[in-house]
Amino acid sequence: MPLVTTTEMFKKAYDGGYAIGAFNVNNMEIVQGITEAAGELNSPVILQVSKGARAYANHTYLVKLVEAAVEENPQIPIALHLDHGDTFELCKSCIDGGFTSVMIDASSKSFEDNIALTKQVVEYAHDHGVVVEAELGTLAGIEDEVVVESGKEAYTRPEEVEEFVSRTGCDSLAIAIGTSHGAYKFTAAQCTRNADGILVPPPLRFDVLEECIKRLPGFPIVLHGSSSVPQEFVKMVNQYGGNMPDAVGIPEEQLRKAAKLAVCKINIDSDIRLAMTGTIRKYFAEHPDHFDPRQYLKPARQAVKEMVAHKIKYVLGSDGKI
Ligand code: G3H
Ligand code: 13P
Ligand code: ZN
Repeated sequence: MPLVTTTEMFKKAYDGGYAIGAFNVNNMEIVQGITEAAGELNSPVILQVSKGARAYANHTYLVKLVEAAVEENPQIPIALHLDHGDTFELCKSCIDGGFTSVMIDASSKSFEDNIALTKQVVEYAHDHGVVVEAELGTLAGIEDEVVVESGKEAYTRPEEVEEFVSRTGCDSLAIAIGTSHGAYKFTAAQCTRNADGILVPPPLRFDVLEECIKRLPGFPIVLHGSSSVPQEFVKMVNQYGGNMPDAVGIPEEQLRKAAKLAVCKINIDSDIRLAMTGTIRKYFAEHPDHFDPRQYLKPARQAVKEMVAHKIKYVLGSDGKI
């Protein structure tokens, strides 16, 4: 099937109590690792491209890579989404350039300015058959050039969501309930430590999520910053020359719980980076004489595939949902 929008995916996910994984793509190995896993598990999937990914790999290369993945996996629904679009022009360029979904992230602006920009993008997108994700509330962490310090984030205010959705006409809404971008989602001071000395983060604000759901029945909610930062990869990075002390993510069981509620899209990027980096560091340490990129990119791609398969089966619950 050709690239799809997220409309049908989200409706089925909402009704079925699971979520669709939205994975960031930056190169061929990442596209292949994700879509091979989704293809083998008959899972719908969203491939998302950030402004930084476009700057790195070029819009056309990324679209063609995704088109190749669609051709190789004709049985699964695949959506191509712009992650954290920050201007109308960027969203328009992706809508005109073959994306089926865009995010306009005006969450750092005032409520009224967020509404005005989101509405402008929605009008253009809907005229072109493209769906729009918007955001209310601010996550901690780093996304492209925007850095929000831990402690300066703001949870979504449930009392604002109905007005925001009805005035903008957006198709899904990203909310802030305590997730955060990157591999260092919480400071040590915000966490406790378990018996192995690993940081245990504060729980997500399910009370905020449930208030939003009550006010927006049937409406798809999105969670950004949802990497779990698997400790096996952090250990691998640290064992083979890296230095990522106290990297910590969102526990998988909390994401599973969110997926069973109205959360229909769960964004994962950092876990892909960790899987590749840990695997490549290990490979280099064990094969110091190898220099053919195919030798180390092959196990890195396989690590992405296995990590994504794990998420689909045990976190998202989207396997077999085509
Ligand atoms: O939310 C941000 C995503 O992880 C994309 O990161 O802007 O470095 O490509 P990036
Ligand atoms: P992570 O940094 O937790 O992978 O979040 C990615 C994300 O939200 C992309 O928009
Ligand atoms: Zn994000």
